[in-house]
Amino acid sequence: MDVGIKGFGAYAPEKVVENAYFETFLETSDEWISKMTGIKQRRWADEDEETSDLAYQASVRAIKDAGIEPTDIDMIIVATSTGDFPFPTVANILQDRLGIGKVASMDQLAACSGFMYAMINAKQFVQSGDYKNVLVVGADKLSKITDFTDRSTAILFGDGAGAVVIGEVSEGRGILSYELGSDGSGAEYLYLNPDNGKIFMNGREVFKFAVRIMGEASNNAVAKANLEPEDIDMFIPHQANIRIMESARERLGIPKEKMSVSVDKFGNTSAASIPLSIAQELENDRIKDDDVLVLVGFGGGLTWGAVTIRWGK
Ligand code: UT7
Repeated sequence: MDVGIKGFGAYAPEKVVENAYFETFLETSDEWISKMTGIKQRRWADEDEETSDLAYQASVRAIKDAGIEPTDIDMIIVATSTGDFPFPTVANILQDRLGIGKVASMDQLAACSGFMYAMINAKQFVQSGDYKNVLVVGADKLSKITDFTDRSTAILFGDGAGAVVIGEVSEGRGILSYELGSDGSGAEYLYLNPDNGKIFMNGREVFKFAVRIMGEASNNAVAKANLEPEDIDMFIPHQANIRIMESARERLGIPKEKMSVSVDKFGNTSAASIPLSIAQELENDRIKDDDVLVLVGFGGGLTWGAVTIRWGK
C-alpha cells in the first residue's frame, strides 16, 4: 500500500510582527536579523488564541482538501511543544472541536522535528491496515515560550499550524523513504527552561548541529528512496535560519530555486514550519502532482527527521 498526503491545510495567525518591533526594546536591528537569519517578519497569535485554535484552522482545511468528513478521521496526532495545557493534549481538544468520532488522539513531542515524526508515526498506522485516515498536525505558539529579554532567541520565533490527512494514495505516490533520529547528549543546547518557562538556546551549537544533520539526514533519506539529487523537485527544510538552510541545500547538491524559503515571512514556527512552507509553494504553483519533495526538520532533543515524498493523492 502507498501511503501519503490525502489532504493538506495550513494556518498562520493574522498579526504580523516586523523586525523593527524588536529595535524598540532590544539592542538589535532589522539589518542584523535579516542578514543573520533571513527573517523579516513573523506571525503571532493573540493572547487568547491557543495552539489548539491554530491547529483547528489548519485541520479544517486539510479535512476539506481530502474530500472527507471529520467522522472519517480515525486517529489524530498533533506535533507540538506548546500544547494549551500539559494535559489534556491538543489532539484531545481537536477531537471534540472538529466533531471527529471518539478515536485515539495523542500529542507527539519532538520539538521542531515533530511534524516529521508525526507523519511517519501516522504512516505506520495506515500501512498496518488498522487505520485509514490519520489527521497529523504540526502546531506551535512559540510566542508564549519566547524569552523577550534574550536578543539571540527573541527575534527567531513565530506561531502557526499545518495539517495533513495521511492515508492510502495512488500507486507510486506518497512517502517513499524517511530517516528519523535523536541525540539526547545535545539536550543542553535547546530546551524549555523550567525556571522561567521560556526557550533556552545555545545558538552556535544548534547551528553547527543543524548544518551537519540536515544534509546528512536528507542525503540518507534520498539514498533510501534510490533517488539522485537531480530527481528532487523541491527541498523543504525546517525554516530556522536561511544560512542553515542554504548550507544544507549545498550539501544536498540542489539548485537554489528548488529550495522553499518562507522563513522571511514566518520566522521559526517549529512543528509548523515545514507545512507552512509547503502551503506557500502550493499557493505559488511550485508543487505539482508527482513532484518529489524532500522535507527535513531538526530541533530540540536534539532530534531530526527527513522524509521523501512523491506528491499527490
Ligand atoms: O528550530 C531550531 C532551533 N534554532 C535554530 O535553528 C537556531 C540556530 N542558531 C542560529 O540561528 C544562530 O546561532 C543565531 C541567529 C541565533 C545567532 O547567529 P550566530 O552566527 O550563531 O551568532 P552568535 O550567537 O555567535 O553571535 C554573534 C554576535 C554576538 O555578539 P558578540 O559576542 O560577537 O559581540 C551576539 O551577542 O551577534 C550578537 N547577537 C545579536 N546582535 C544583534 C545575537 N543576537 C543578536 C541580535 N541582534 N538579535
